[in-house]
Amino acid sequence: MTTEPLLRPVAVGGLLLKNNLALAPMAGITNAAFRILASGGGAGLVVTEMVSAESLKYGNKKSFKMLELLPGEHPAAIQLFGADPASMALAAQAAERAGADAVDINAGCPVRKVRRSGAGAELMRTPLLLADLISRAVKCVKVPVTVKFRVGLEAGENLGPLLARVAEEAGASAITLHGRPASQFHTGPVDLEAMAATAAAVKIPVFGNGGVENADGARALLEAGCAGVAVGRAAVFNPSVFAEIAAGLSGGRLPEPDSGARMRLFLRFLELNAGIYGEEHGLTRARKLVGFWLKGLPNASAARGAFMKLKTLKEAEELLIQYTK
Ligand SMILES: Cc1cc2nc3c(=O)[nH]c(=O)nc-3n(C[C@H](O)[C@H](O)[C@H](O)COP(=O)(O)O)c2cc1C
Repeated sequence: MTTEPLLRPVAVGGLLLKNNLALAPMAGITNAAFRILASGGGAGLVVTEMVSAESLKYGNKKSFKMLELLPGEHPAAIQLFGADPASMALAAQAAERAGADAVDINAGCPVRKVRRSGAGAELMRTPLLLADLISRAVKCVKVPVTVKFRVGLEAGENLGPLLARVAEEAGASAITLHGRPASQFHTGPVDLEAMAATAAAVKIPVFGNGGVENADGARALLEAGCAGVAVGRAAVFNPSVFAEIAAGLSGGRLPEPDSGARMRLFLRFLELNAGIYGEEHGLTRARKLVGFWLKGLPNASAARGAFMKLKTLKEAEELLIQYTK
């Protein structure tokens, strides 16, 4: 068992993170607006939604837009997915030019469309290709290259130690290990033993991921030997979860944010979203999240319905101000 403090700075290659708590990449969620909230909420590293290396190769505008980073979110990693080493190398260069502090390669996505192209979790079946993707990217950029994969494809399988060694030898600077097999998508328990064996197999930091909602959850992964923890869904409606975990790991406790603080944070998110996509489109994109932000508040259902029709930030403020007091 490690004698180091559980909460600690961690070096990812030449990138020193202030702490070992990272925001996990989430498609449709971890856009720049959300990453700024998570960074302000104490995350030591934030990660973009996955961006297609092939789309970047063909100059897809939406994919290039996804590479845009804002000043308040660094250090930030851009996550790429793909199965062609030449495209991955080009995409890694594009990510570096966009200001990424690290480039992360997705080797854990269970979605069929992604796997059909040989990318995401499919790369766990093809370690030589995974190594090629990593090493080509490493050669093409100065920033650290990291990789995210799962403990296995099916329950009970532990590919972690083998893949971790492959990644390390190919030049990866860190690993994010989702402790659920790809067949489980995002539900069910994590395989703590497989995670411990993976973390012990390599010298590079392994960020454990899966089901962490608070300091106790983070502690379990850190005590199993992970150098850090990546938090996904628990951050979505509480981007300050990182500061809460940090306080808990240090023996303290932060007061839970009250509904006023939460709503002010949501308004800030809407403002940032408007800056990125324009007011109306920014609000449209926030529609799928509003139910969760309003959960448990009085008249939430009516407010949610009203939110669906909003077109301006001023209208959003008028609607939500009742909750900020
Ligand atoms: C909506 C959603 C989108 C996701 N998108 C990505 C992604 O783009 N790249 C990736 O590597 N993992 C993605 N994941 C997986 C998360 O990074 C994380 O591994 C998973 O949610 C488990 O962590 P958690 O239990 O803390 O949420 C996604 C998960 C969710 C729920």
